[in-house]
Amino acid sequence: MKREKVVVEKIVETFGLTKRYGRQTVVDRLDLTVSQGEIFGFLGPNGAGKTTTLLMLLGLTEPTSGYAQVLGLDPRRWPLEVKSSVGYLAENMGVYGDLTAYQSLAFIGDLNHINGLSQAIYEALDLVGLSEVAHKKTGQFSRGMRQRLGLAEVLIKNPKLVFLDEPTLGLDPDGIATMLELIERLPAEKGLTVVLSSHLLHLVSRVAHRVAILDRGRLMAVGPLEELAAHAGVSADLEQVYRYFFKNHSQVLSEATR
Ligand SMILES: Nc1ncnc2c1ncn2[C@@H]1O[C@H](COP(=O)(O)OP(=O)(O)OP(=O)(O)O)[C@@H](O)[C@H]1O
Ligand SMILES: [Mg+2]
Repeated sequence: MKREKVVVEKIVETFGLTKRYGRQTVVDRLDLTVSQGEIFGFLGPNGAGKTTTLLMLLGLTEPTSGYAQVLGLDPRRWPLEVKSSVGYLAENMGVYGDLTAYQSLAFIGDLNHINGLSQAIYEALDLVGLSEVAHKKTGQFSRGMRQRLGLAEVLIKNPKLVFLDEPTLGLDPDGIATMLELIERLPAEKGLTVVLSSHLLHLVSRVAHRVAILDRGRLMAVGPLEELAAHAGVSADLEQVYRYFFKNHSQVLSEATR
């Protein structure tokens, strides 16, 4: 099969994207667009369907109906092509504790046939602030260091687009700030488009140009935070925005404002 080269400004587009498990609809007719160079916050409480959506965009799970285009390709038809151009930092990323940070990146780099690997590894480690521990075993890494290594593993592939699923989960405030600062630099320094999933609006809103709010598989709102706040008739006060869009999720509200 031959595939046409197209210039894409819409890096991700979904059209009625839907996923059902049995009788449960976990992603419900999602229409979304993510543009080149954007940091797009994908937001919603536990079980909203964020990870399922990302898996469909990666071609790792099949939509029940609707379709998606990622970098101009349908991930159903071109799963390998999509996976080779998209970086994915999964929830609950593991490390191979016996490998050093350098070796972990070399392993991924080899798999992806990266040229000039050694230099690419040091650049990635430098970007995420792990140069000094390049030759330390990752089993000794703190959670924050592991997350940053995870990000380096994503970046070493030279992706055009990255999906970061809850990259700040379990990090302390310093770790969160470091991770968000890193994410914020990616569009300018690496020409990347970033989709950042989280259940915490106040974190995502620090870096996202636009956010989409998902609740039980349905898109509740999408736009810059100020617009969502205006829509909700409140000031750009995160607690109030959350209260408006998640009237029935008091536990999310308390978590969001912690
Ligand atoms: N393989 C599966 N089989 C059946 N149900 C599933 C499967 N994967 C996910 N689900 C269900 O789909 C819903 C959405 O799950 P998903 O993991 O996409 O949510 P999420 O927004 O990523 O949540 P979290 O914030 O907890 O990571 C949940 O109700 C979940 O139980
Ligand atoms: Mg998830």
